[in-house]
Amino acid sequence: MLNTTLTKSFTFVFILSVFAFSQQSCVYEVETPNVCFQEDVLPIFVNKCAVTGCHNASSFQKRLDFSNYEGIMKEIKAKHPMQSEAYTEIANGEMPPKDYPQLTQLEKSTIKNWIRMGAPNSSNCNTCDSTFTFSGRIKPLMDKWCIGCHTGTAAGGGYDLTSYTNIKNANNNNRLIGSLQHLSGISAMPKGAGKLSDCDIKAVQDWIDAGYPNN
Ligand code: HEC
Repeated sequence: MLNTTLTKSFTFVFILSVFAFSQQSCVYEVETPNVCFQEDVLPIFVNKCAVTGCHNASSFQKRLDFSNYEGIMKEIKAKHPMQSEAYTEIANGEMPPKDYPQLTQLEKSTIKNWIRMGAPNSSNCNTCDSTFTFSGRIKPLMDKWCIGCHTGTAAGGGYDLTSYTNIKNANNNNRLIGSLQHLSGISAMPKGAGKLSDCDIKAVQDWIDAGYPNN
């Protein structure tokens, strides 16, 4: 009698943990094939961690400068995400602080998978996408690289880059494209980081040349 009750409760616990485990693996893993440091991982750190006043070269946290590969690698143990503080603090919800934009599940998985791959300083892993539609190319580019510092009233330089009209207007006097090309006399963007890929800069240039289509 005792045995059957025990067996039953063991079976129950076993089923429960298999269920919990499978739930967890669905929720916490997102496939991110061909993760590339420059194009996929760096923008997450620049946009969500290197925001002005936080983890960039001019901030009080300059010991942890997350605007470039060398700085990020100080907190990464290649192949071991759970021993990499830059990842564990994000995974357990300690960083970014609660009142800053949080990482999406896809962004967390991107970082984790890149560490598992050995955290290489890789670039140009994806072929250049020559499209330049606003919704498919320009807006996602701004979301990925810029809006961490360019949202709302506290936006860098007063430029909010979250809507079509604002992004278009930001190119007054070529300031948007000039900031990406690191032209002199215009603040180089993304601030504190290297230039975007030639492919991304060309997409913005093509969109401007085509007359800012809102497509
Ligand atoms: C880490 C924060 C940060 C990120 C990321 C960032 N910016 Fe900025 N941006 C700023 C700040 C702060 C200013 C105000 C000028 C300054 O301090 O250099 C600014 C100014 C600008 C200006 C005005 C430049 C001028 O000289 O008039 C443009 C245009 C701009 N940003 C576009 C972008 C674009 C496009 C991206 C994404 C590719 C981007 N920024 C990413 C912080 C950032």
